[in-house]
Amino acid sequence: MHRFTLRTGPAAVAANEHRMVYRHRLPVRVMHWINVVSFFLMLMSGLGIFNAHPHLYWGADSDFEAPLLSMSARAGPDGEPHGVTQVGTHVFDTDGVLGASRVEGAARQTERGFPSWATIPGQQYLATARNWHLFFAWVFVLNGIAYVAFTVFSGHLRRDLVPRKAELRGIGASLKDHLLFRHPGGEAAKRYNVLQSLTYLIVIFILLPLIVVAGLGMSPRMDSLFGGWVGLLGGRQSARTLHFAAAFLLLAFVAVHVFEVIVTGLWNNLRSMITGYYRLPADEHGQEQKREPKRERRAP
Ligand code: HEM
Repeated sequence: MHRFTLRTGPAAVAANEHRMVYRHRLPVRVMHWINVVSFFLMLMSGLGIFNAHPHLYWGADSDFEAPLLSMSARAGPDGEPHGVTQVGTHVFDTDGVLGASRVEGAARQTERGFPSWATIPGQQYLATARNWHLFFAWVFVLNGIAYVAFTVFSGHLRRDLVPRKAELRGIGASLKDHLLFRHPGGEAAKRYNVLQSLTYLIVIFILLPLIVVAGLGMSPRMDSLFGGWVGLLGGRQSARTLHFAAAFLLLAFVAVHVFEVIVTGLWNNLRSMITGYYRLPADEHGQEQKREPKRERRAP
């Protein structure tokens, strides 16, 4: 397994003139950005829908006495509504953020659930939130199917996303490198590192399908089309909880993903997802790459 150091300072600047490689093909780039836009619109409209009943349960029915998660308002010491979030039997004070949050112009907090800046539309309006959510669900799913089809049939999956055996053996070293902010350079930077590719595979083939299936599990029509399958998820309320949990796992992935994009070179990474071209960073010896050919394609 290669070990890499992210170099900084004048020596690295001198060594930073490297060749450009063609890293992302046009369909992957287009589908990636469609996915980003639809994800954020779906997340925010989903929070708008959640706010209509900001409580989650496990099972087929809502057990109002024993929610898994509940955002609500209780009377504070001043007698005004005070935001609280209950997880299992633990109650947390989330005043001003979750439960009851401040509304500009209002004397005191009145909103329940997530604050208005996190939802689409801003005010509580279930029908509009559902329209946004269900419209972009189609965009998200069709785009996802097209991405998986392209990834499989173009060989991108096998070539770039599935880690090789030797890479799998280096998981420990890769984890350590990530924790120490050491990033690949030179030839090794042409490939996704093993943690990166495994995370992409988990997101693409486990988390995204789970969020779609659990979403469908909440639809009465889908439930009646293929009788009983929602029971496999634990019931309709469990499907709602799984859908919510998967959305937040996806949000956690996006946070780490964007963090890694920033620390490994914001513009270089963004350019690769916009134009396709990526400038190879220095290898561990800070050595320049061969200049010819200037622009090279990643394996076809
Ligand atoms: C729902 C949200 C997101 C998902 C599911 C997602 C997923 C992915 C996946 C699967 C790849 C690999 C693509 C491939 O090679 O087939 C990728 C790469 C990339 N993503 Fe995202 N992404 C998301 C959000 C973002 C955002 C918000 C940014 C903006 C900063 C971003 C920037 C990038 C960049 C720059 C790469 C290329 C990384 C590299 O070449 O090493 N992504 N993303």
